[in-house]
Amino acid sequence: MNQFSNQTKFWQSQDADHHLHPFTTHPQLRERGVRMITGAKGIYLTDSEEHKILDGMAGLWCTQVGYGNEEIVEAATKAMRELSYYNLFFMTSNPYATELAAKVAEKTPEGISQVLFACSGSEAVDSAYKLIKYYWNLKGQPQRKQFIARERAYHGSTTVAASLSGLTGMHPQFDLPIEGIHHIGPTPHHYKFGQGLTEEEFTDKCVQALEDKILELGPKNVAAFVGEPVMGAGGMMPPPAGYWPRIEAVCRKYGVLLWADEVITGWGRTGEWFGSQYFGITPDVMTMAKGMTSGYQPLSAVALGHDIADEIAKGDSEMVHGFTYSGHPVACAVALKNIEILERDGLVGDAAKPRIAYFQEQLATLADHPLVGQVRSVGLLGGLELVADKETREPFDEALDVGFKCREHCFNTGLIMRAVGDAMILCPPLVITNAEIDELVAKARNALDLTAKQIGRM
Ligand SMILES: Cc1ncc(COP(=O)(O)O)c(C=O)c1O
Repeated sequence: MNQFSNQTKFWQSQDADHHLHPFTTHPQLRERGVRMITGAKGIYLTDSEEHKILDGMAGLWCTQVGYGNEEIVEAATKAMRELSYYNLFFMTSNPYATELAAKVAEKTPEGISQVLFACSGSEAVDSAYKLIKYYWNLKGQPQRKQFIARERAYHGSTTVAASLSGLTGMHPQFDLPIEGIHHIGPTPHHYKFGQGLTEEEFTDKCVQALEDKILELGPKNVAAFVGEPVMGAGGMMPPPAGYWPRIEAVCRKYGVLLWADEVITGWGRTGEWFGSQYFGITPDVMTMAKGMTSGYQPLSAVALGHDIADEIAKGDSEMVHGFTYSGHPVACAVALKNIEILERDGLVGDAAKPRIAYFQEQLATLADHPLVGQVRSVGLLGGLELVADKETREPFDEALDVGFKCREHCFNTGLIMRAVGDAMILCPPLVITNAEIDELVAKARNALDLTAKQIGRM
């Protein structure tokens, strides 16, 4: 037994004794032993057994500039030396938070003007929910308290964020959702939920579902509609053609606020700065996190359109909301450097197009695999839908756990690819090179082959 195995076993036992993991089936983890990730550079992770793993998920959809970027390390170190901490309460700010707020306003769609910082995507979502309520109270429309979200949406795991999430498995353990939150279906993804309809007909159906729900609740009672521009954690599901501008039009028709949850789709993931720009919409409220710091620091933000920002700015009593670490100087310094790198190194906009095109073309080559029913992509987001029958799109029997099997083969052969049911998800760092894309796709094909063999399909 080598030194690493002893160390790994020690950590595994400590971890099993004391560490409660998020989103984990605990007996399964204890049986297997945790895998310790001990280092990362570029797009690769290393574990305590010195395996090198290509991270096809950018951590949890966040490491846009890859791991171990020295410029970011330096920016964090400098900020920590200068101003290790101070808060934004009591009418103070710090240069990093102020400059970052201006940067967010610059990069978001026209009309977004004010930014409130928090630490996680879920906190940003909770903050947006509260600020929207506050806005309607200030506006003299306190009855507007109903929120509409979508089936299979993911908005985070705090009480409000999990309630807005439409992944029903998240609700019973915690007696959720809270009151005043409504989920509409069908989930706007044509391949899985639009069988028998053309894409246009399916768009009509999804848009009609929003209008119907607004009418059912009473247009004057609806505060906001929230959606991820591309549904992420629910299975990387892009919307059908024309969906977002039509959703925006319905919101405008009834004066309902449009809230884009850009926690995954923000900061270059779609090829544009934000998914809202990719789909041509101008939300009233945006939530963002993850790629804002490439995950190097926990930081998130709620960005508000003029109307909301102005109304709140006029409120003459104290806005009693915020966090100890809102606008933390080190986190904001990291975000500023991260955004500078995204701009300078051509990771967003026209300069990013060749890399995105290569990723999408190479991923599309997996469509010929016997398990793959659909290959989908938006920017550097990719999904492979594994199906029992490619013609009819019939899914695999859930008990077979095909996605989980494939994920395990990936993990054991040096690739992180996430499974959401039988959808295999990719979201590599934006710095991935063409050679690394080749490696990723070859590893994905190999894992698909191993899965197909395991279930007797090859
Ligand atoms: C769209 C969306 N909103 C909110 C969140 C929650 O972010 P966090 O895990 O940082 O709380 C996520 C996380 O994946 C997300 O995808």
